[in-house]
Amino acid sequence: MTSSGTRTAEVLGLGAYLERTQERVEAALSSYLPEVEADPAAACPARLAQAMRHSVLGGGKRLRPVLCVMAAEACGSEGAPALPAACALEMVHTYSLIHDDLPAMDDDDLRRGRPSCHKAFDEATAILAGDALLTLAFEVVAREVRPGSAALRCVRILAEAAGATGMVGGQMADLQAEGRTATQGEPVAGTLAALEAIHRRKTGALLRAALGMGAAVAEATELCTQALDRYGTAVGLAFQIVDDLLDVQGDPTKLGKRVGKDSELGKWTYPRFLGIDGSRRRARQLAEEAVAALEPLGPRGEYLRGLALALLERDR
Ligand code: IPE
Ligand code: IPE
Ligand code: MG
Ligand code: MG
Ligand code: MG
Repeated sequence: MTSSGTRTAEVLGLGAYLERTQERVEAALSSYLPEVEADPAAACPARLAQAMRHSVLGGGKRLRPVLCVMAAEACGSEGAPALPAACALEMVHTYSLIHDDLPAMDDDDLRRGRPSCHKAFDEATAILAGDALLTLAFEVVAREVRPGSAALRCVRILAEAAGATGMVGGQMADLQAEGRTATQGEPVAGTLAALEAIHRRKTGALLRAALGMGAAVAEATELCTQALDRYGTAVGLAFQIVDDLLDVQGDPTKLGKRVGKDSELGKWTYPRFLGIDGSRRRARQLAEEAVAALEPLGPRGEYLRGLALALLERDR
């Protein structure tokens, strides 16, 4: 560990580290988003820029960016080179939330303590803001991630995680399980395995990608990359289990989103399948799996270790 940046990170407690990284991500995100320009002939229409900025800035835990930066640092890189990839993850995540909140999907009017994008603007603008964020994510990776080989890896990881066999596929299966959208042929049987497969795709895939992109930026060894992949896979599922629990037990003012929606919509969730205690046990087991996966990283995995455990106790 040669850089002063890395040395600074080492002496910070997890809370201070998270705060500092969140601030860096916030500033970088703002710099990548289109400005709201008064000129009606501006390339990006002001309303679209406003909607993108409304949904991305000033809210959100920035967990995916934080994981990406932590992963890069755990592999011996600086945090700064991971920021473009970190921001791209947050853009894809925010797009997924904008679309998730639409009336055709979960129909939520509150997100990150503010009106959802389609409430603050309108449905068409929200759809387009999501589309624009998804596209911008890949623009930022292609333009900013260096070397080019790392950018290419990041594009592939992000596309696979976000697409039809990752987040989008998981969202489709989530809506089909709820009965909102028809299946082709027989409906999927409501088993724990089917629920797990939904959660691993709709939420787990992008979290896992955060670790993979951090490792790619750091040009990590295969050993590090695989350890981080196992960590990301476990944390990704644990994260959605806790999200399900918070929908039952959480405080909406802390969460900045409505609660009780999952049972209202008939969603498949961990509390529905395993109960509260069973869900908590499963989340803890996964966090412990994640921690165990970090063994090859030694002390460099300390923040990741702390974060996996802290996520079990989160209230937002
Ligand atoms: C919420 O994600 C939706 C899920 C994928 C579970 P987060 O809990 O990370 O939401 P923000 O980014 O902090 O708002
Ligand atoms: C969201 O899952 C997953 C994605 C946005 C991809 P949820 O629908 O449970 O997320 P919240 O609870 O609305 O944040
Ligand atoms: Mg949803
Ligand atoms: Mg939702
Ligand atoms: Mg939820």
